[in-house]
Amino acid sequence: MRANKAAIDRDTGDARVHFHDFHPAPADLRAEVLSGLALKQKRLSPKLFYDARGSKLFDRICELPEYYPTRTEIGILERDGAEMAALLGRDALLLELGSGSSKKIRVLLSALRPAVYMPVDISREHLLESAESLAAAFPDLDVHAVCADYSVPFELPVDDHDHPRAAFFPGSSIGNFEPAEAERFLKRVAGILGPGARLLIGVDLVKERRTLEAAYNDAAGVTAAFNLNLLERVNRELGGTFDLDGFRHEAFFNETDSRIEMHLMSTRAQTVEVAGERFAFAEGESIHTECSYKYSIERFQALAGRAGYEPERVWTDPRSLFSVHCLVFAG
Ligand code: AVI
Repeated sequence: MRANKAAIDRDTGDARVHFHDFHPAPADLRAEVLSGLALKQKRLSPKLFYDARGSKLFDRICELPEYYPTRTEIGILERDGAEMAALLGRDALLLELGSGSSKKIRVLLSALRPAVYMPVDISREHLLESAESLAAAFPDLDVHAVCADYSVPFELPVDDHDHPRAAFFPGSSIGNFEPAEAERFLKRVAGILGPGARLLIGVDLVKERRTLEAAYNDAAGVTAAFNLNLLERVNRELGGTFDLDGFRHEAFFNETDSRIEMHLMSTRAQTVEVAGERFAFAEGESIHTECSYKYSIERFQALAGRAGYEPERVWTDPRSLFSVHCLVFAG
């Protein structure tokens, strides 16, 4: 296998990680925040949640009793991993998009035995740390860590046509895209994988309002802190003057659009300055910070179908809270 881009080999004891850095452009925080706050319905992108503190808060969300997606998906992977591995086949070049701590792939690796594991993440340090720890735990695994923004097009950093290709996209991160964006994203992944390749993707299922709303309004207030951290970030990095006591977290299920919406609600009329510009808030006016779409199995398969995939298999938990789909890119 030949590297297309400069690869840096990192040795960790016996384990070795090939590192490919695409130097993803850091978010233009100033431009994104100023344009988002100028909209009639003020918006801030959920991508901005994940600074160092936001990433730690997200890890805590995944452990919360109310936040069922993480443990439910891991339960499905543990129960049905052997079947998933049989469909994906051994000796694949396996891409993981937004690999983060690579926790979920560990459940599958012994059964999957890929020839190459290629975690892709925008957060360089986090990516390297988890790739190195994974390479140490699976010394026979060829690990190629790729620092890239998977939400924009990128090329595989290796010339490899000897192995079947597969991708893993867990966590229902697909739900944070607008459906039209999700379709475009799946098409782009298909372009990287090529015809006949399989995609294993976790998708949160639509369910009763109570369970959904509890998952985004936890009793310990971790999701509220995660949401409000956006304002702290703007204050810190853009000299903003948000008074955190003047905003509260709100999350609700919008049944018409089948999505959880997260907002930061202004509790009084106030004016805030960001990077030298002033923004007025009426009492009860919100900044929309995240959509998390919830799908039925059929609606997700239809969306994937429009992106060129055929459904091969879908697994759910006994309560039908979450789904893991195996899709084949028909080409
Ligand atoms: C990352 N993503 C799938 C999470 C979700 O459930 O949409 C982000 C999150 N927001 C609040 N809690 C979790």
